[in-house]
Amino acid sequence: LASIEVDVSSLQPGMSLTAKWRGKPVFIRNRTDKEVEDAKAVPLEELKDPVARNANLAADAAANDLDRSAGEGKENWIVMIGSCTHLGCVPLGQAGDFGGWFCPCHGSHYDTAGRIRKGPAPENLPVPTFSFVSDTVIKIG
Ligand code: FES
Repeated sequence: LASIEVDVSSLQPGMSLTAKWRGKPVFIRNRTDKEVEDAKAVPLEELKDPVARNANLAADAAANDLDRSAGEGKENWIVMIGSCTHLGCVPLGQAGDFGGWFCPCHGSHYDTAGRIRKGPAPENLPVPTFSFVSDTVIKIG
């Protein structure tokens, strides 16, 4: 399947689901206001990977929180391929030193915007092509 549609109507703030797209897990999280604020508070200079890695944006877009998220008005939503950029393990949600995701294979810590903050992974978790087809349905791919 080239693209999938995922109903996210059941996700209250702080809840996530994992969809499957092209054989890979895709994390969809309705972030809490605090998670968004925490991500926004991080200076870009502190990021190991300063690039958004967002397939919906220019290749050189910066990894600020807005450009990691679903964008203006939907910044609480984050959609990412759940494959650690080190060697491809599936990170665990709401874990690690930065409250985002943690890869138990070799200890990579991602923040609440899915940006690599500590550990061997070289890049932020990639954001696939996606869009909201309605308020509660996300099309991936
Ligand atoms: Fe995630 Fe190595 S595969 S840290």
